[in-house]
Order: sequence, then C-alpha cells, then structure tokens
Amino acid sequence: MKKATKFLTMTLAMVMTVCTLTACGGGAAKGNTITFGTNAEFPPFEYVTSNGVIGEYDGIDMVIAKQIAESNGMTATMENMEFDSLLVALQNGQIDAVIAGMTATDERRETVDFSTPYYTATQVMIVREDSDITSATDMADKKICVLQGYTGEICVQNMGYTYEAFKKGTEAVMELVNGKCDVVVIDSATAQKYVGDNEGLKIVEDPSAFESEEYAIAVQKGNTELLDKINSAIDKMLADGTINELAVKYTEEVTAE
Ligand code: ARG
Repeated sequence: MKKATKFLTMTLAMVMTVCTLTACGGGAAKGNTITFGTNAEFPPFEYVTSNGVIGEYDGIDMVIAKQIAESNGMTATMENMEFDSLLVALQNGQIDAVIAGMTATDERRETVDFSTPYYTATQVMIVREDSDITSATDMADKKICVLQGYTGEICVQNMGYTYEAFKKGTEAVMELVNGKCDVVVIDSATAQKYVGDNEGLKIVEDPSAFESEEYAIAVQKGNTELLDKINSAIDKMLADGTINELAVKYTEEVTAE
C-alpha cells in the first residue's frame, strides 16, 4: 500500500514535469481568454481610468480588443507594460497579442505578424503657441522630446537630430509646457488630446517629413489561428463603421475633459 502510494506520487510528479516541459497550458492562448498587452499611456487609444471597458483600461483599442474577444466567444484581459517591453512579452508568450496604437513597421514585421490595419495616423510636432517651428527641419537647433521606442523616436533619429526620450507622453508634454524642451514628436490623435488638455500648445504638421502610419495588432509570428480571429473581427468593425464611430467618440470625449 505504502509502496503503491509512493509509486503514484512519483508517476504524478513525472507527468507534471513532462507537462511543464511541453505545451500543456504553457505560453499563449489560454483556453477562452485572449491576453492582450498594451501601454496605457496613449489616449485616445488606451489610458487608465476608474471604470474602463476592460478593468481600469479604456480607449479605442480597449473597445476593439473586447469586441475581438467577444465576437470569437472569448474574453479579453489586458496587461499594461512599458511600450518597449510589448514585443518582447509577445515573443515570450506572456501575452497573446499587442494592441497599443502600434504602427506596423517593416522592422517590427521581422519579428511579429500584424493584423489588418485599423487606423491611419502620422507623426506631428507639438510646440508652444509662440513657437517659430513650422516644419520638421526647424527642429534642427531645438530641444526635441520623443517617446521611447515610439515611431516618432525613429523618425527623429533618422533625421539625425539629438533628442531626449521619455517613457510617458504626459512627461514629455510637461517638459514642453515648462519650457524645458521646444517640441514633442508624437502620433497625431494623441497629440490632439494633449493640446486639448494643456493651455498654450499647438500642433505643427509636416506631411513631407512624416509618412502616414498604420496601426495594427501584433501576434507571434505564424500564429495564424489567433490572427484569423483578430482579422475577421477587425474586418467587420471596419466595414460596419464601428471603428470610425469609436475614433470620433473617444477623440471628442478625451478632449472635452
Ligand atoms: N504608433 C507609435 C508606434 O507604434 C506609438 C505607439 C504608442 N503606443 C502606446 N500605447 N504607448 O511606435
């Protein structure tokens, strides 16, 4: 009897070890849940609020994530982390997908797969109202702020300008308001939100310097099963106008606050 129990315990331990070493439940796509990763510092796409659509998170992307899950009979959960940790967390299987106003760039396409694009944006410059900056080249002798790991940082880098990188849009905008930097390069809709929230700022556009960018959801390379689920939901939300409505709703809402 004693021997039998011991044998059973050992067998169980072995099975469990094998299980951890193989695919039993490890990594992504846990049953009926899609675990999204985001960086909730990017209104109107994602921000922290007292009563959001997914826990404390609200914004255009959060509604989209929720609908993607629901239209596939699943539940969406959200993990909030630094923007430049998102693709690493995706590779590690800590999250199943990234929804973060993330631009589908060729460089990122080398490591992840992107969904159908759902929003078009561009980089713009936020400056103080009395600024003499009217084009990207005017930034040459100015103090430039960017956000770490954002496409805006890559743009400024490629222009050959020196800059300071921040982790949060609000931090960079405070530097601008306080006169510690002269220009913040960031995505258009987010810039609009910051200009609406802070006195004395304006947006300067330069389409000749900044190409348009498309936001898409990232999944692990080759995860076609999840990508198909995401794409069918996005295609539907694009076709029936849901995403347009969300963009209007959240742009008005956050600027009116
Ligand atoms: N579109 C830019 C990029 O992909 C900025 C995205 C920032 N998103 C965020 N949730 N903080 O690099």
